[in-house]
Amino acid sequence: MGVEIQIEGLTKSFGRQLIWGDVTLTVPPGEICVMLGPSGTGKSVLLKTLIGLLKPDRGSVVIEGVDITTCSERQLYDVRKLFGVLFQDGAMFGSMNLYDNVAFPLREHTRKPESEIRSIVMEKMDLVGLLGAEGKLPGEISGGMRKRAGLARALVLDPEIVLFDEPDSGLDPVRTSFLNQLIVDLNAQIDATFLIVTHDINTARTVPDNIGLLYHRHLAMFGPREMLLSSEEPVVRQFLNAQTIGPIGMSEEKDADELEAEKGRELPPLPPIPLQLEPSTGIPRRSQRPPGEWCRTYGVTPPPGSFEPAMAMSVGG
Ligand SMILES: Nc1ncnc2c1ncn2[C@@H]1O[C@H](COP(=O)(O)OP(=O)(O)OP(=O)(O)O)[C@@H](O)[C@H]1O
Ligand SMILES: [Mg+2]
Repeated sequence: MGVEIQIEGLTKSFGRQLIWGDVTLTVPPGEICVMLGPSGTGKSVLLKTLIGLLKPDRGSVVIEGVDITTCSERQLYDVRKLFGVLFQDGAMFGSMNLYDNVAFPLREHTRKPESEIRSIVMEKMDLVGLLGAEGKLPGEISGGMRKRAGLARALVLDPEIVLFDEPDSGLDPVRTSFLNQLIVDLNAQIDATFLIVTHDINTARTVPDNIGLLYHRHLAMFGPREMLLSSEEPVVRQFLNAQTIGPIGMSEEKDADELEAEKGRELPPLPPIPLQLEPSTGIPRRSQRPPGEWCRTYGVTPPPGSFEPAMAMSVGG
């Protein structure tokens, strides 16, 4: 379970506006990847390109041997069935209760009888902790519950790949922690490939196996979590530690004067790398590796205090 996504040389523009160019990465099967990037760098466009809702100018996206950028509509339809997508706002139908919202993909894409649909819907509602709320309308529940309902709906077709567009936006820190734990538990349990777009640095630092950063119309870096969290590359360092010093300014890029003014200002030391969030269910992640393994393998000295249990919740700054 869980399939790989091979992205190569992917380039997308709208009219004359290049969004990103030459994006190459492999999303490993069954692992969790987080994609970061300043607002407007094309993270949502990337997710939409991966499910074939948007056509790239160039490049390929290969899933189970099918390049979805060039395949037939029929093949695309089949590949799409591998995906579950959690859209930014949950994308619930406002006039349908949660039960009907979650049942929707099953009624639309399968010929299952209502009795079977019922057992699947209830199973997924249970999984996301929403049993008992089936009769509620999306407008009657909190944002956190809407996200979880969206997640239940993304899971009903037993996806091999789940895409999350800012699952944590608009949630309070406690709900975000619960959702992150749920994501990690689900990943271990269903073994699907997860790709999460988020702005939450704590999520990015603790949840994924791999992190990517889109910046300045390209993929600035993609690799194992420990690689990015120990990186001295200015853009990566600035973004993952939520610092003001670095190439990223309020309007995407700083100008020469702003950068000049920063010269000589000492960068704060890299904060410790937190422990990865572990499944609470006892089922290990498919890719679970000992803390610090990547750093040891590549001879990188992690920042002092890294991988200590007490640091699990720390955010740099
Ligand atoms: N269908 C479209 N037609 C034209 N331009 C588009 C379209 N969709 C997105 N864009 C443009 O592409 C750029 C990237 O948009 P996108 O929504 O992917 O950003 P994002 O990284 O997801 O930002 P945020 O973090 O704010 O969600 C924006 O400049 C946006 O205006
Ligand atoms: Mg977006």
